Amino acid sequence: MPQQVRGVVARGKGQPVSVETIVVPDPGPGEAVVEVQTCGVCHTDLHYREGGINDEFPFLLGHEAAGVVESVGEGVTDVAPGDFVILNWRAVCGTCRACLKGKPWYCFNTHNAAQPMTLEDGTALSPALGIGAFVEKTLVHSGQCTKVDPTASPAAVGLLGCGVMAGIGAAVNTGGVGRGDTVAVIGCGGVGDAAIAGAKLAGATTIIGVDVDDRKLAWAKGIGATHTVNAGSGDAVEEIRALTGGFGADVVIDAVGRPETWKQAFYARDLAGTVVLVGVPTPDMRIEMPLIDFFSRGGALKSSWYGDCLPSRDFPYLVDLYQQGRLDLDAFVTEKIGLDQVEEAFTRMHHGDVLRSVVVL
Ligand SMILES: NC(=O)c1ccc[n+]([C@@H]2O[C@H](COP(=O)([O-])OP(=O)(O)OC[C@H]3O[C@@H](n4cnc5c(N)ncnc54)[C@H](O)[C@@H]3O)[C@@H](O)[C@H]2O)c1
Ligand SMILES: [Zn+2]
Ligand SMILES: [Zn+2]
Repeated sequence: MPQQVRGVVARGKGQPVSVETIVVPDPGPGEAVVEVQTCGVCHTDLHYREGGINDEFPFLLGHEAAGVVESVGEGVTDVAPGDFVILNWRAVCGTCRACLKGKPWYCFNTHNAAQPMTLEDGTALSPALGIGAFVEKTLVHSGQCTKVDPTASPAAVGLLGCGVMAGIGAAVNTGGVGRGDTVAVIGCGGVGDAAIAGAKLAGATTIIGVDVDDRKLAWAKGIGATHTVNAGSGDAVEEIRALTGGFGADVVIDAVGRPETWKQAFYARDLAGTVVLVGVPTPDMRIEMPLIDFFSRGGALKSSWYGDCLPSRDFPYLVDLYQQGRLDLDAFVTEKIGLDQVEEAFTRMHHGDVLRSVVVL
């Protein structure tokens, strides 16, 4: 029997979100219904609400979640009812050309649930990042459920479902940060601070947090930045160079995703260094630069999809590090809110008042 639950819907570009009745079908082959316990508010949800991702309204928002599997469909063997899981938005297929090449974190054919969740009148919802988790129960592909230690706090480890994994992975997986490296992170929100935490885990010795908001810089220090730069009051490129012996950082991570921040990342990097773009630009953004600079400065210019993570590999070990007190995920949870407070959380995110608001169901 399809179930009726409450969930947060974005009906149109820039319109405030509303809590509505969502119809969740029984899981079909390969699918699972998950009782959502917590879901973080990520900037990508706001991008959806603003029409910055695509126009496929109405959206069922939320995608950074932890919960318990309620039921599974035919043929599901990897998870079972009662399992505590973090939802991931890149359930790898195992058969596409990336997977076959042994690089499944690039999977070009990731799985989502086949059936849509709908509004009461039958209108199909587009779930944010193929999940949709600001809702009491959600229908996902079973591969989107990653089992982890059930004694961990859902509000904290659920953040690995998106922003924190994207940030840690941007540093550790995409950027390949290693012991003794110098790293700069532009944009110290949830994703950027997670990149700082990742750089620290990987043994970077100089970690520079860059933001335009001093409150964000203070949080970044708490999480592991050894230095901070306010890009609003100075030249971020010059300051990063000054803090790295005049050379620039080995790895610079753009966790904002705007032309000006990417350019800063490009020029604040040492020769042959690496730029990682993990912030998501909008389709209208353009960049114009001398092509010779790309050649003469060398190195690697990379993008980071979901921190190039492999959920089955990365979520369990990061949860273990959290449980051992070596990765402070609680530091990312600024506030816990109800399902009807997502719109206010967007406003607070926009004003920079929070690292993460986490909806508790
Ligand atoms: N690649 C991925 O897989 C992935 C996953 C999750 C989120 N994201 C993206 O990462 C980005 C950051 O997400 P978030 O949740 O951390 O957002 P956030 O709003 O919490 O943080 C953004 C931060 O950037 C700062 N900022 C804005 N303009 C700046 C500038 N010009 N210079 C320096 N700092 C500036 C803000 O003050 C804020 O602290 C978003 O674009 C989001 O869509 C990407
Ligand atoms: Zn694949
Ligand atoms: Zn996200």
